[in-house]
Amino acid sequence: MAKKYIMAGNWKMYKTIDEAVGFIEKLRPLVEDTPHKVYLGVPFTAIKPAAEKAHGSPIVIGAQNMNDASEGGFTGEIAGKMLVDAGAQFVILGHSERRQYFFESDDFINKKVKKALLDGLEVILCVGETLEERQDGKTQEVLKNQIIAGLQGISADELSKVILAYEPIWAIGTGETATPDVAQDNHHYCRQQVKEQWGDKVAAELSILYGGSVKPANVDELMRQDDIDGALVGGASLDPETFSKITNFGDR
Ligand code: PGA
Repeated sequence: MAKKYIMAGNWKMYKTIDEAVGFIEKLRPLVEDTPHKVYLGVPFTAIKPAAEKAHGSPIVIGAQNMNDASEGGFTGEIAGKMLVDAGAQFVILGHSERRQYFFESDDFINKKVKKALLDGLEVILCVGETLEERQDGKTQEVLKNQIIAGLQGISADELSKVILAYEPIWAIGTGETATPDVAQDNHHYCRQQVKEQWGDKVAAELSILYGGSVKPANVDELMRQDDIDGALVGGASLDPETFSKITNFGDR
C-alpha cells in the first residue's frame, strides 16, 4: 500500500476570516484527488469558517496552540474544547516560536498534549534544535529530551493520535532546509526514541513530519526519505497554488 503522507500548513499569525475562506475555496479543487492528508493550522478566528468551507474535502482544520486547563481565569487563553467546538480536529503544540517567544517549557507543553488528547484533538508535537545546539553537536540530546518530556505519561494507545514534527529551528523561515540526509538521520533518531519507550509498532506507525523552509522545489526529495512521513509548512502554505504543489508532490 502506498504511504499516506500528512501535508500540514501552519499559517501562524496570518489571514483574516475572508482570506482564510478564500484560500480554502481555491485549495479545495486543487487537492480533491490527493491521496494524502491535508492539514491546515489556522488562526483561532478562522477555525469555524474554515472548517465549514473545508467540510467534505480532504482538508482538515486545526489550531496552533491551546491552554492545558478546561476553563478558568486565564485571560487571553483558549481551551481545547473551544477549539473542538469551533471545528478544529488537531492542534500544533510545542512549536519553536511558542517555546522561544512565549517561554513554553517541555513540562507545560506535555500538559497541553495530555489535555488536547483528552479533549479529542490530534496533536502535532514540534521538536527541533537551534543553530547553536546543532553547532555544539547537541541535536540528538535536544530531540531526545523534547520527545521524552513532551510525551511523558502518554500511553501507546494515545500515541496513535500524536504526530511528531521535526523542525530544525535554523531552517524555519530562513530559506535554509536541512539536507534530505540530515533530515532523514534526525527523523530516524526521533523514531528510535519512540521505539525505545513505546515499542516497535507504535514507532513504526508514528508519522514524523519535516518542517523548515519546505517548498515545491525541495518537497519531493524530502518525502522520499524513509522516515519522513509528511511536512509542516509555514511560509509556503500561505498561497493555495504553492501549497497544493507541496501537498500534491510527486505528480506535478
Ligand atoms: P517555514 O515554517 O516553512 O516558513 O520555514 C515552518 C514552521 O514554522 O512550521
